[in-house]
Amino acid sequence: MTRAIVTGGAGFIGSHVVEALLEARQEVTVIDDLSSGDPRRVAPGADFRRLDIVDRSALDAVIDEVRPEAIFHLAAQASVTVSVSDPARDCTVNVLGTLNLLEAASRYHAPVVFTSTGGALYGDDAPIPTPEDRIPVPVAPYGASKWAAEAYVKTWSVASGVPHSICRLGNVYGPRQSPHGEAGVVSIFAHHLYKGRPPRIFGYGKPTRDYVHVADVVAALRSASGKRGIFNIATGIETDVMSVWHELQRASGVELEPELAPLRAGELERSCLDSSLAQRELGWRARVSLSEGLPETYHALIAEFERDGQDS
Ligand SMILES: NC(=O)c1ccc[n+]([C@@H]2O[C@H](COP(=O)([O-])OP(=O)(O)OC[C@H]3O[C@@H](n4cnc5c(N)ncnc54)[C@H](O)[C@@H]3O)[C@@H](O)[C@H]2O)c1
Repeated sequence: MTRAIVTGGAGFIGSHVVEALLEARQEVTVIDDLSSGDPRRVAPGADFRRLDIVDRSALDAVIDEVRPEAIFHLAAQASVTVSVSDPARDCTVNVLGTLNLLEAASRYHAPVVFTSTGGALYGDDAPIPTPEDRIPVPVAPYGASKWAAEAYVKTWSVASGVPHSICRLGNVYGPRQSPHGEAGVVSIFAHHLYKGRPPRIFGYGKPTRDYVHVADVVAALRSASGKRGIFNIATGIETDVMSVWHELQRASGVELEPELAPLRAGELERSCLDSSLAQRELGWRARVSLSEGLPETYHALIAEFERDGQDS
């Protein structure tokens, strides 16, 4: 049995990582301050510790108690808007929090998998699909803090000899994604369809993203554990936001006319990641197609909205 720690395990992606590790009969401790997480997402078999990763002594105490053999680091200030309004907090959580974790991980030689971002790093002028060796040009503090944290992950990996990895994720979607965030368009659209309220679609529906199902992301993070390197985790397929809306509308059977609006400041027109390195080095590739993943996610989200009363 492996002892694993999942930071951000009460969040959207982290909760799926926790579930998969428990299914693989690993011992799992979740570290989360519930700033955007929900304790109801944490599987009952996990040991849940509520703490802020910036609080170094609280973090050290849990890590020294668990003595982890693997760490999946998903806790983050993950909102671009918050990063703009409070860049110091964004930097503190994403950079200092990551450094605290790396220091603690070094004491147990525990490999860390760090979840970074593709979309917020590469910028609008990047080739499509974008490979990992493209020099990042983050336009928001969130991208800058993730890039800075990546540097610490790489440096600590070299200095400690422990194989840490960095996974730059595409636009992740799937069950348990909150419809109340700024991103997560699949969940936001599903919520609009559930409520019968037309959504506002920015960029007139034309911006493209690389949508990757959370089950594929979990498989990638697990494959990256104990490996060294930076890997794009995405499908390599560009999909415009209007197509996502149409697919979800079909799944719902509800007809709504969206309001079309121009692109918001700082939003990318195109984003699509080349994940061939992950294919070669991790033996990973995305398996869930959008035509399969979107209807499945839609029905799972509607069941959650009904169960959790997220219909206010
Ligand atoms: N969802 C995506 O499409 C996407 C894309 C690229 C990268 N990522 C990255 O993947 C990771 C998980 O994202 P998510 O979509 O599940 O977000 P999420 O907001 O659902 O999960 C983040 C979790 O971290 C916790 N957290 C935040 N600050 C903390 C702190 N200081 N101490 C302890 N816990 C803290 C939150 O309470 C939450 O449960 C993040 O690092 C995010 O930057 C996500």
